[in-house]
Amino acid sequence: MRILITGGAGFVGASLALHVRNALPDSKIVCMDNLYRRGSELNLPRLRDGGVVFHWGDVRDPGAFPVGPFDLIVECSAEPSVLAGLTGGMNYLYHTNLTGLFHCLEKAREWESRLLFLSTSRVYPMKPLLEHPWREEETRFVWLDGGVPGICSQGVGEELDMRGVRSFYGFTKYAAELLIEEYRAAHGLKAVVNRCGVIAGPWQFGKGDQGVVAFWTMAHHFGWPLSYIGFGGTGKQVRDFLHVEDLCALVVEQIRQFDLWDGWCGNVAGGLEYSVSLRELTEVCQIVTGRRNPVHAVKETRANDLRLFLGDCRTLYTRTTWRPCRGIHQLVAGIEAWVCVHEQELLTVLKGG
Ligand SMILES: NC(=O)c1ccc[n+]([C@@H]2O[C@H](COP(=O)([O-])OP(=O)(O)OC[C@H]3O[C@@H](n4cnc5c(N)ncnc54)[C@H](O)[C@@H]3O)[C@@H](O)[C@H]2O)c1
Repeated sequence: MRILITGGAGFVGASLALHVRNALPDSKIVCMDNLYRRGSELNLPRLRDGGVVFHWGDVRDPGAFPVGPFDLIVECSAEPSVLAGLTGGMNYLYHTNLTGLFHCLEKAREWESRLLFLSTSRVYPMKPLLEHPWREEETRFVWLDGGVPGICSQGVGEELDMRGVRSFYGFTKYAAELLIEEYRAAHGLKAVVNRCGVIAGPWQFGKGDQGVVAFWTMAHHFGWPLSYIGFGGTGKQVRDFLHVEDLCALVVEQIRQFDLWDGWCGNVAGGLEYSVSLRELTEVCQIVTGRRNPVHAVKETRANDLRLFLGDCRTLYTRTTWRPCRGIHQLVAGIEAWVCVHEQELLTVLKGG
């Protein structure tokens, strides 16, 4: 099988490339990336050593794709920040996330290939997520049952009313999902769409606005300043998380049984069981790194921030016996082990968070 992974030098793309190469040793994998994300270049030796071909290319340019055909395109390229477009960068966000996906779809049509798309929980509109009843507990906020249809204590289901504002980033991903559906209907494209919450793991060049688990771990390791921003500044905001290796295991299953998964568009997330508040994450980081880092409180809430997000995966679990299995200690310990080995390169690339 010939597989093209766009955004293939990024965190998810490179992890998937190496995992799929191991699981399907006969596959030929090409990772295309324009190295826009700081740190992505550090993945290149890793890809080469893993038998994956790297192709420099920008998804905004249809002429920059490698020579096909490919049997499968895995679209992982993105400007993945939920703050993108607010104070500039709209052109890049729009054309990478949406025009880039359009070019992938046209290539899929030309090559008669399948498409697997990494979408996001940010496709859900923000207002109901903020309005759903919640309670403050000692270390975290929790969602209650009742209230907004489609949200319960277990998280957000795919049946949530999709009307409303979702951030420019969320818009590009939701529009991408809709465009994929049109290509399925009009051109018989076979496609799988995974709506992920926080994905985390080693080789994630985390920033304050994207890749929070890696960022928090690195901040403890290197002593970078940290703040609990928003929702009163107590650090009780909660996200579910999925270890990237857990995600990779599911994607391999989906690739192997693509016809069964064709048309899937739903939550792939850690859910309540695999969720953490910032405050809880601080504690885990302290234990794992053995370092304490003062965390400042900023009461004002940032644009597009959410008190809570949990993806309810009950629909997913009717389709598969796959379940996430890597918890927060394992996740942070894996990131810390990676940071220890690559300290100098990381410091050069990330320059203080
Ligand atoms: N990491 C998460 O928590 C998370 C959660 C939900 C969804 N996703 C989605 O998963 C996908 C991968 O995210 P990630 O965490 O690996 O992000 P990442 O930033 O690490 O990877 C994205 C890659 O795309 C590349 N890229 C950016 N613009 C490009 C362009 N114009 N042409 C070619 N390559 C370009 C970047 O250089 C980078 O290597 C994205 O679509 C993202 O929206 C990620």
